[in-house]
Amino acid sequence: MLGRTVLRNVLSNELKCVEQCQRRASSKSSAELIDLENKYVARTYDPIPVVTAEGKGCILKDPEGKRYLDFLGGYAAVNTGHCHPKIIETVGSQVAKLHHTSRAYYNNELPVFAEYITKYFGYDRVLPMNTGVEGGDTAIKMARRWGYLSKGIKPNEAMVVFARGNFWGRSLAAISTSDNPVMYEHFGPYMPGFSSVPFNDTCALEEALKLKNVCAFMVEPIQGEGGIIVPSDGYLKEVRRLCTENNVLFIADEVQTGLGRTGELLACDHESVKPDILVLGKGLAGAVIPMSAVLANEDIMCHMTSGTHGSTFGGNALACAVARRTLEIIREEKLVENAKKMGEKFRSDLQCKLPKGIVPVIRGKGLMNAIEIHPDFGTGHDLAIRLKDAGLLSKSASKQAIRLTPPLVISESEIEEGVEIISQVVDSFAK
Ligand SMILES: Cc1ncc(COP(=O)(O)O)c(C=O)c1O
Repeated sequence: MLGRTVLRNVLSNELKCVEQCQRRASSKSSAELIDLENKYVARTYDPIPVVTAEGKGCILKDPEGKRYLDFLGGYAAVNTGHCHPKIIETVGSQVAKLHHTSRAYYNNELPVFAEYITKYFGYDRVLPMNTGVEGGDTAIKMARRWGYLSKGIKPNEAMVVFARGNFWGRSLAAISTSDNPVMYEHFGPYMPGFSSVPFNDTCALEEALKLKNVCAFMVEPIQGEGGIIVPSDGYLKEVRRLCTENNVLFIADEVQTGLGRTGELLACDHESVKPDILVLGKGLAGAVIPMSAVLANEDIMCHMTSGTHGSTFGGNALACAVARRTLEIIREEKLVENAKKMGEKFRSDLQCKLPKGIVPVIRGKGLMNAIEIHPDFGTGHDLAIRLKDAGLLSKSASKQAIRLTPPLVISESEIEEGVEIISQVVDSFAK
């Protein structure tokens, strides 16, 4: 009895201590928090010097209460906006009931989510994972497996072709397909079985797919991290045709472009093509919980048998409930249509307002856009810093470009406010 009382007191003191720490954290200034992060966190990012402390829709606030328009959307993940009330409600009610039990058992959310998402996107089965990079890795495993067991490729000889300039994360497999030395240098040896062709080059792809041991071509319909690179109209149709003709699987990495981001539910829908394997991630579970999903039909998924793949958290009840609610919200609130309409307005307002001498390039689809600053005036990073000072958050996407990927819930007045800020900041580069 005494032991239990002592334990209860210890736990209660620990809880008080954690609460005190949290209160202290939330009372720290932006400058103090930046110093603390710079001191204790591994230096794998170079953040814009702003601290986010609160969010609602497309608005973020720092600890001092300064308001920012969020035009990055957590790297294009916050599709449904910050702290969406329907998502908060689902998180709260689900987490209080059941969050994680693992795939050792069935839970009462995964089956319902699986039926919902497979019907939503028109595939037989889904394989749930957590992050986007795991989704890509899973898709490649599925393609290799299909290559050996259905296409008849000799053991250990399967090849997957990628587009140059790709980005699908920073795991060892992902960096093995990267042509960015910052990502791959001094991390070798690299994974074999990968080759690459230039993005948007169907002649090179045609040649690459002729090799009998190629099982898949994996591509982002619009390259995100590569700088929001939109391929020529017809590219995806030709990719589909070449893959079918050569008995090669078409893997669409729609981790960034999917879920309405480009003004269609999937970026592949712009050209009415259906990939054999579809990878989704980022905002799938409301950008509250990491969740990715790989979808395919039975002829491919049949090879993923018990023990061949898995993840402790993949398919947990909380992520599944929140993802199903997120997919419902995308439909209920017509976020795909909003992304299309707001994206068109955004690009056309920017075209009207921005001087071509300073910003020669405005590109994108839906709410996945980039602008490039002319090198005579500065870099994308310089532009992102000045935009932050003026109250708009973005991030560079290559040396000269910044990406502009706000939440899909953005309103017309927020687009207008964003364009006004961008135009004033760009004008300041002329002075
Ligand atoms: C197209 C694409 N695929 C995959 C990923 C990796 O996702 P995650 O960072 O969740 O692993 C990203 C991340 O930006 C991405 O843009």
